Amino acid sequence: MTKLVGGFCGALLVFMLGNWAAETLYHTSGGHGDDEHAAYVIDTGEDDAAGAEEEQGPTFQELFASASAADGERSWGKCRACHALDGTDGTGPHLDGVMGRQIAAVDGFNYSDALASLSDREWTPAEMDAWLENPKSYAPGNKMTFAGLRDMEERANLVAYLVDQSPGYTPPAAAEDASAMPAEEETTDTAAADTAAEETTEETAAAEDVTEETVAEETAAAEEAAAEETAAADAAADSPLQQALAQGDADAGEAAFRKCRACHKLDDGANGVGPHLYGVMGREIAGVDGFNYSDAMAGLDGTWTPEEMDAWLENPRGYAPGNKMSFAGVRDLQERADLITYLQTIGD
Ligand code: HEC
Ligand code: HEC
Repeated sequence: MTKLVGGFCGALLVFMLGNWAAETLYHTSGGHGDDEHAAYVIDTGEDDAAGAEEEQGPTFQELFASASAADGERSWGKCRACHALDGTDGTGPHLDGVMGRQIAAVDGFNYSDALASLSDREWTPAEMDAWLENPKSYAPGNKMTFAGLRDMEERANLVAYLVDQSPGYTPPAAAEDASAMPAEEETTDTAAADTAAEETTEETAAAEDVTEETVAEETAAAEEAAAEETAAADAAADSPLQQALAQGDADAGEAAFRKCRACHKLDDGANGVGPHLYGVMGREIAGVDGFNYSDAMAGLDGTWTPEEMDAWLENPRGYAPGNKMSFAGVRDLQERADLITYLQTIGD
């Protein structure tokens, strides 16, 4: 009994000491106005330096070499509304075994001509990286309505996850794949793109019609699939926002941006009533140099993630009470997701 009580008191003491230490640290680094300002100015310099370095920064292959399939599984939440991993096709073809598979090779799946014309290639990590970064430019006219993943590390993790879902597939040695890439990209890609362009000039109009027509259908199907998945699997990865983002439509977002245009420009450095929104996704909150933010806004830490942006756009007043954006908010979740999808395409 004595030991028990002693042990408990000891644990409590350690806990309280830890708490006190954490709080001290938090308060000293939380900073007051001046500190924060100084830290911010220094940060900007480093940011620019980092930006300059980024061009020679980590390559996809380097990130892929240390990628985390577990993190990739989380990003998979953006794909599962349309893709299954159990051999069944949905809006998109099943992706179990996709790595090393020929492009557009699932029997019975009705691929677009744009993707089908690339079937002489296979899904290597480098190809998958290019596709996921920007599906639209990888295979112009294809029918995957997905804006792409801007973050290279996220793509590397997701590809690692897809490798896990492809038993028997071993990624090529980094050097091989990297050296094979540019040549392939320039010759095959251009040729394929040219052919695709030729083939699809007439079809583009038709395809666009079809896309519009099938949006409703696809959405219904995707929602059904998502509902099934939620019941079946862990709901955690599939927050309502994630689901809405998976169906995020940059074109619809561009249309919704009409509501913002009076106050926000999308050109780097061009501030209006509000700060410019070039590259706003991932940018520091209240991070535009020379824009005169309210204290309410300037006092916030962090960067514009989809979650933060969603909360801000839903209710600017509740998000940062006293801020000076006189805008009531966007009530519709899907509209916010579309806006976020659109903003993700603005920047570099
Ligand atoms: C809104 C639905 C949708 C979402 C979301 C989506 N896809 Fe797709 N995907 C498709 C469709 C449709 C196709 C077929 C495209 C075509 O034929 O033009 C496709 C094709 C593909 C292919 C080519 C497969 C093959 O057999 O060659 C890959 C790889 C792929 N998607 C990966 C992903 C990944 C990874 C994600 C998540 C980051 C994702 N997709 C999100 C609908 C979607
Ligand atoms: C009536 C003008 C007005 C409209 C309309 C408006 N904004 Fe703003 N916005 C502002 C102002 C002013 C600020 C700065 C707020 C502050 O400092 O308190 C701001 C700030 C922001 C920020 C923070 C930027 C940063 O650098 O941290 C984002 C993001 C944003 N607005 C997005 C939007 C979007 C998206 C829309 C449309 C759905 C929109 N705004 C509509 C005036 C507007």
